[in-house]
Amino acid sequence: MSFIEAKNVYYRYPQAEKDALCGVSFAVEKGEYLAVIGHNGSGKSTLARLLNGLLQPTEGEIAVDGISSADKSRLFELRRRVGVVFQNPDNQLIASVVEDDVAFGPENIGLKREEIKERIDFALAAVGMEEYRKAMPSRLSGGQKQRVAIAGVLAIRPDVLVLDESTAMLDPRGRREVTDVVKKLNRENGMTVLAVTHYMDEVCDADRVLVLSDGAAVMEGTPREIFSQKEKLQKYELDVPVPMRIAELLKEGGMPLKEIFTKEELGEELCRLLRKI
Ligand SMILES: Nc1ncnc2c1ncn2[C@@H]1O[C@H](COP(=O)(O)OP(=O)(O)OP(=O)(O)O)[C@@H](O)[C@H]1O
Ligand SMILES: [Mg+2]
Repeated sequence: MSFIEAKNVYYRYPQAEKDALCGVSFAVEKGEYLAVIGHNGSGKSTLARLLNGLLQPTEGEIAVDGISSADKSRLFELRRRVGVVFQNPDNQLIASVVEDDVAFGPENIGLKREEIKERIDFALAAVGMEEYRKAMPSRLSGGQKQRVAIAGVLAIRPDVLVLDESTAMLDPRGRREVTDVVKKLNRENGMTVLAVTHYMDEVCDADRVLVLSDGAAVMEGTPREIFSQKEKLQKYELDVPVPMRIAELLKEGGMPLKEIFTKEELGEELCRLLRKI
């Protein structure tokens, strides 16, 4: 059994005329990083809400570490195990001091003072925000706010970090701050990550990609496998990462580039060609 298992999951919002998710199945292993992409309204946020039991499938099952979201007696545990960070940095911080905000989750689960302090230290260090523990959240940049929001989630020691377009409202620098933190948590702390994003370059950080379209899981594979199917992606209203597009344009213009995927590869390949000139 995989760490996260979604089996034939359907979800329809009350009063809605069609299913937001229709028969979605996928699995995520512990420590894996899954990116979820799809056009607007394809069901990505619905999937995020189902994962931590905020919503219940109308049919099918979703389980994390064997805890089914249908098991009401373990719903509290499931919510603790699956931490969700949302899109808007201004909606997620409630306290007037950073450390109080991070303490909120641990206080809610009734931890002792000493343990709460340790968790705040750990969580703020993990997102590189130790220096800001006494700061006012309202004074922080978007990227810093999102890092504090991630720290708040980490402080409850979740097994899975779910990000629902958590970089969408950030400037490029803020985005990089957040994606670097998420990458580090995944690679160094073994955190299982499920990240919904519409930035194709962020998808390259993931081990695997799930593509949703009209509530169905239509593609699944490594970023390379997914992005090599450009026509299919276009059908689902998705693009390839910018470095890949640039490389294609250069190739059309006659530059003999090999297949490019990330900006690092594009940089290396261009340097290689320039050295030959
Ligand atoms: N609270 C709700 N009540 C009724 N229908 C909803 C609700 N939230 C979402 N939907 C519908 O469910 C479907 C999936 O929405 P969802 O928000 O999961 O998509 P999404 O992929 O996250 O979209 P976006 O890229 O815009 O964030 C859409 O058709 C949407 O209109
Ligand atoms: Mg959404």
